[in-house]
Amino acid sequence: MVGKAGGIVAIYPGSFDPITNGHLDLLERGSRLFDRLIVAILNNTQKEALFPVEVRLEMLREVACAYPNVEVDCFDGLLVDYATQQGAAVLLRGIRAISDYEYELQIALMNRRLKPGIETVFLMAGEAYSFISSKLVKEVFSLGGDVSGLVPPGVAGRLRNHALLQKGKP
Ligand code: PNS
Repeated sequence: MVGKAGGIVAIYPGSFDPITNGHLDLLERGSRLFDRLIVAILNNTQKEALFPVEVRLEMLREVACAYPNVEVDCFDGLLVDYATQQGAAVLLRGIRAISDYEYELQIALMNRRLKPGIETVFLMAGEAYSFISSKLVKEVFSLGGDVSGLVPPGVAGRLRNHALLQKGKP
């Protein structure tokens, strides 16, 4: 499927709580593969997030502004419905290790069953980033570890602000 304005539109979905340098690597590579790439945050009220979706959007916009064909958005409901609304033919996901494969395969097959016209494209995580996850970044940071080089500077700053705010709480 070609987007309304022509060219291939891809969605890069995720929680991005927060965006890491691994996500950023995928975003950059995806921007070279597709004509339009929409990084879409799942607005999931059931899953407890560290950062509200508005802050995650802000953090993503700060890094995505360097890529003219990349947009940032959020969605709720089914990913394939959102992709259809956006005229997207591709869902982009990253795979870090074999442990990601099973989960990703399940999601990809479910999405294909729901909307056979939409393909999931996997990119292998860059080797320098294959150990990074949002979950581990949050854990390392909360235990006083250094996360510089794992997340964009704006994210590291927000993690510090968040920690300061928590400290100030009664
Ligand atoms: O970064 P994450 O948390 O691994 O991303 C998971 C995500 C957002 C891609 C996945 O949970 C998703 O697409 N959710 C939307 C709901 C949906 O479409 N579910 C059916 C397919 S599994």
